[in-house]
Amino acid sequence: MFDKIKEDVRELLTGSNVENDMRARLHADHDEVARITSELLAAADPASQERLRDQLVNVLTIHLRAEEDVVYNALSQRPATAGLTLHSYREHDDIERLVGELRLVDPGDPALRDCVERLRDSVTAHVRDEENEFLPQAERELGKEHLASLIPMFNARRVEIGQELATQSALGSAPSVPPGWDALSESHTQS
Ligand SMILES: [Fe+2]
Ligand SMILES: [Fe+2]
Repeated sequence: MFDKIKEDVRELLTGSNVENDMRARLHADHDEVARITSELLAAADPASQERLRDQLVNVLTIHLRAEEDVVYNALSQRPATAGLTLHSYREHDDIERLVGELRLVDPGDPALRDCVERLRDSVTAHVRDEENEFLPQAERELGKEHLASLIPMFNARRVEIGQELATQSALGSAPSVPPGWDALSESHTQS
């Protein structure tokens, strides 16, 4: 919670938003993941648990892949950020393994809560590293404007991955994206 407020204050003081600042753009996704996770942990009936579980899997998958393809890819090529990028890739691997576990847990199964809590803890630790160390270092290395110039590509990649997941879902191999997620991505892409 402290990290969220800290980032919100930074955005307020610097006039940063999801269109002109990559740190704010990624923070918006991190907030969305935290919100869905809280709702999932509070959900009592299996139907809500299934809906929220599917949303969390999709939102996280889209964020991790788009972040790697656009942000991490740019930073892995710079000596000053290569080490932190590698560390972040490894944290993504841990999160993806837990997302894979979560996809296999039946809604209503008591094991669901334990699985979501482990995923929440892993994501929280990664977001803390990313927002407090990795992205500030990325900003110093690339410059705020260069980093912000990657936002349209990030948003476009996010839409593409969402569409790929929706196609897989139609074929029965992945859960659908949450309501409003496509519209959010597309509005960011067009801006
Ligand atoms: Fe992230
Ligand atoms: Fe990340």
